[in-house]
Amino acid sequence: MVNKLEKKTLESWLENVKEYACEGKVADYIPALAEQNPEHLAVAIYPLKGECIYAGHSEKCFTLQSISKVISLALALIDNGEDFVFGRVGMEPSGDPFHSIYRLEQHTPSKPLNPMINAGALVVSNMIYGVNAHERVGRLLSFIHEMTDDHSIQVNENVADSEFNSAFLNRSLLYYLKQHDVIKGDVEETLDVYTKQCSVDVNVCQLARIGAVFANEGRDIHSNRQIIPRHYARICKTFMVTCGMYDASGSFAIKVGIPAKSGVSGGVMASLNQFGGIAVYGPALDEKGNSVVGLKLLEILSNRYDLSIF
Ligand code: DON
Repeated sequence: MVNKLEKKTLESWLENVKEYACEGKVADYIPALAEQNPEHLAVAIYPLKGECIYAGHSEKCFTLQSISKVISLALALIDNGEDFVFGRVGMEPSGDPFHSIYRLEQHTPSKPLNPMINAGALVVSNMIYGVNAHERVGRLLSFIHEMTDDHSIQVNENVADSEFNSAFLNRSLLYYLKQHDVIKGDVEETLDVYTKQCSVDVNVCQLARIGAVFANEGRDIHSNRQIIPRHYARICKTFMVTCGMYDASGSFAIKVGIPAKSGVSGGVMASLNQFGGIAVYGPALDEKGNSVVGLKLLEILSNRYDLSIF
C-alpha cells in the first residue's frame, strides 16, 4: 500500500500540516540557525526498492544537528567496537533535555547516560579515529558520502562557526568530561569535530537515503554493500527508539512508533526496516527541540499506513 504513495499525496499532507509551524519556534541559541524560514517544509521517502519521492522545499539544505549523533555513533562503533564505546557511554534513556548537565554528577565514575544526549554524543565524537579534527571530520564526511553515494555533501562552515563560538554549555560538558577522564585529548578539538558533524548540510532526499541504509540493516540500498555492520545499525536504531526524541521519545513511540532522530535545525530522520528511510524538515520546534511539522507529518504517515513497529 505504502509503495503506491505518490508525490501528490505527500504534497497534500504538507499542505495540511503547514499551519502547525506557527505553534513552534525556530532555534536561535545557535545564531546561524535563527536565519531559517519556518515556512520552508519538506518531506522525502526513500524506499528500499525504488526511487526517492519528495515534496515541498526538497532542494533546501539544512544542517544535521543531533541527527548526526546516530551517524557518529555508527562510525565510533566501527572504529572502536561495542565494548569500548559502551565502557564510556551508557545505553539508558535520560528523560532529560538534550543539553542537560546535572546527571553527569550522579554517576561515579562519570558516564553520560546515552549517546543521543549532548554529553554522550561529545564522548562519541571524541572516539572517532583521526590524528586531528580535520581528519576525523573528513572520515565522518566520507562515511556520509558512502551512505548517500553523494560526494557533494559538505559542512556548512557558517553554521559550524556560529555554534563553535556560542557553545558554552557543550564546552562545560566537555571540560567536565575531561576533568573526569572520560574524554581524551584536546577539548576544543573535540568541540570542533562535534560542531562540524552537527553542521553537515543535507536535503531531505539525502537524509532519507541515510535513514534507508539503517533500515536496510546497514547495507547500501542500491548495491546492497554492507556499510555499517548489521548489529551496529540495530544498536543505532534502538537508540533512535529509546532516546531519538529526547524527553519526548515515549510519546513519539506511541504516536508514530518508527525509529527516528531529530535535530534542532528542524530535520527528522526515520528508519523503518523492510520499508526505507523517511526525512522531514520544518524548522519550527516544540519546547523539547523537535520539529512540530515533522512530528505531525510522521504521525499522519504512520497512522495512514499502519507503520508502527510496536
Ligand atoms: O549541541 C547542540 O546544541 C546542537 N549542535 C545539536 C542539538 C540538537 O540538535 C538537539 N536536537 N533536537
